[in-house]
Amino acid sequence: MTGIPERFLGRLAGKVAIVTGAGAKGDGFGTGRAMSVLFGGEGARVCLVDRDQTALARSLDYLAEIGAEGFAVVADVTNAEDCQRIAAETLERFGKIDILVNNVGVSGGATPVDEIDIAQWRHVLDVNLQSAVLMAKYCVPAMRGGGGGAILNISSIAGVVAYGSLAYGPSKAALVQFTRDLAVLHGGDGIRVNALAPGHIYTPMVEGFMTEEMRAARRKAGPLALEGDAWDVAKAALFLVSDDAAFVNGVCLPVDGGVTVVGSTEAMRLMSRPG
Ligand SMILES: NC(=O)c1ccc[n+]([C@@H]2O[C@H](COP(=O)([O-])OP(=O)(O)OC[C@H]3O[C@@H](n4cnc5c(N)ncnc54)[C@H](O)[C@@H]3O)[C@@H](O)[C@H]2O)c1
Repeated sequence: MTGIPERFLGRLAGKVAIVTGAGAKGDGFGTGRAMSVLFGGEGARVCLVDRDQTALARSLDYLAEIGAEGFAVVADVTNAEDCQRIAAETLERFGKIDILVNNVGVSGGATPVDEIDIAQWRHVLDVNLQSAVLMAKYCVPAMRGGGGGAILNISSIAGVVAYGSLAYGPSKAALVQFTRDLAVLHGGDGIRVNALAPGHIYTPMVEGFMTEEMRAARRKAGPLALEGDAWDVAKAALFLVSDDAAFVNGVCLPVDGGVTVVGSTEAMRLMSRPG
């Protein structure tokens, strides 16, 4: 069971999309792999970007399995030259850029601030925030020249409410504000910029450390008592990058089963303290 939809409606027919972090460990679906496959199935030609060549190759296989068109660029999106190369190779291959999804992300630890490793903190900000700035820097000119486009930044509910992470949360919160400011700056170019804040999503990224008890606790944290998967994020992403969302700009849409409307898990832990 891959979760790949059985039919597509051509909602991105004629579009060219770049998705960063398009790989995932093994055969499973992270949000980048799911978005790449869904966008391809809906008619987009997709540039898949990841630093992990093996993971990218598996994503490309999935695209080929549904007859979608795409190519892979192995790159580190914290590196400006790599980001410039991604945009250039996409233009060379497909002639335009309509959609950019900044999906890469790494988690950071949750240490007390006096034990913070500043190099590690900087790295999380470089991957989760600066990469989006660099990718926008090199893709916006092509979008502007083509009359517009759609940028989607994958934030997190950890950027909306606090989970006690000194790097991950702040990086994802800044990504939401970057989204708003970019929307204001480039609305006049016909470029829409939105963000998604995924909640408790079961992907290969969390598979490695997530126990069954942790998964059950994550489910209990939201009113729907569900855990999401990569397809939940991909389907919301499809809406935001498609022309169906032509009047949606500068928003951050939570895809979290309602976790953020009942408060953070930390608030619930504090509420259940004895005394
Ligand atoms: N899984 C969750 O519960 C969850 C919740 C909220 C937000 N998110 C966010 O969603 C996004 C995707 O999460 P996922 O769980 O699918 O992750 P994932 O780890 O499965 O996929 C991320 C991909 O990004 C790639 N990558 C990391 N750093 C890179 C770099 N510098 N250059 C190029 N590629 C790089 C990795 O190789 C990996 O293939 C991330 O931004 C994450 O923060 C995930």
